[in-house]
Amino acid sequence: MMPLAQMAEAVLRTAEGREKTALSRRLAAQWQAARAAGNAPPIGRADPPLHPARPDAPELLSPRDVPRRRPGTPEGRVALLHAVAHIELNAVDLHWDVIARFAHVPMPMGFYDDWVKAADEESKHFNLMADCLEELGSQYGALPAHAGMWRAAEDTRDDLMGRLAVVPMVLEARGLDVTPGMIEVFRRAKADSAVAALETIYAEEVAHVAYGSKWFHFLCGRHDEDPKERFHALVGQYFHGGLKPPFNEEKRAEAGIPPDFYWPLAV
Ligand SMILES: [Fe+2]
Ligand SMILES: [Fe+2]
Repeated sequence: MMPLAQMAEAVLRTAEGREKTALSRRLAAQWQAARAAGNAPPIGRADPPLHPARPDAPELLSPRDVPRRRPGTPEGRVALLHAVAHIELNAVDLHWDVIARFAHVPMPMGFYDDWVKAADEESKHFNLMADCLEELGSQYGALPAHAGMWRAAEDTRDDLMGRLAVVPMVLEARGLDVTPGMIEVFRRAKADSAVAALETIYAEEVAHVAYGSKWFHFLCGRHDEDPKERFHALVGQYFHGGLKPPFNEEKRAEAGIPPDFYWPLAV
């Protein structure tokens, strides 16, 4: 079996969305089966691309050039699902990139288990959103999408603690804040499959934020640093703009992010 870091690189180098997620899920299942059987492959080393391979469509535009559509309309709901699909595809790459790019940092096996599991779930999330789009006669790639989603990964390519602070603990935590409102939009439209898909995403994202918090705290312990101070410093260094309330305090707490981590950074 391929070393884990090379599995991660293989996903990063696969462009088409459904192909990327199929490979991601297949490799995640291989890793999990090997771990359960007690014969996990080595972590190894990889040479991940600075930018993961992506399909030709969607066209990537700067956020201010992506047309805004009202969520109360069918077109608006398609645009919302498309935006979430784009986030999920990015998330597949973000999780495998942590494994590939930081393979040289010695970590307990549980770290890799968590990231593989999250990458597998992100792959499922992309497929769910792509299914919902297809059900509505659209597809991933039919609309323009935000460029610059890889910015956080690029900025933190040399800093695992920075990556954990910004990606799971800021960006994915933000997902916990906004997803309930999104579910409401689809509930009002009686779009049952979108509601079910978003509820799955919402439930599983809590664990992704928790993995970030757990391993961030682990690394703070390793380096004898105060987690809250380090978090504030890293978000200041790598995240452009403050954090937007309202915060989902309940789910953030469940994910191990206390209020004194995010409130001082609120704008
Ligand atoms: Fe997700
Ligand atoms: Fe996630």
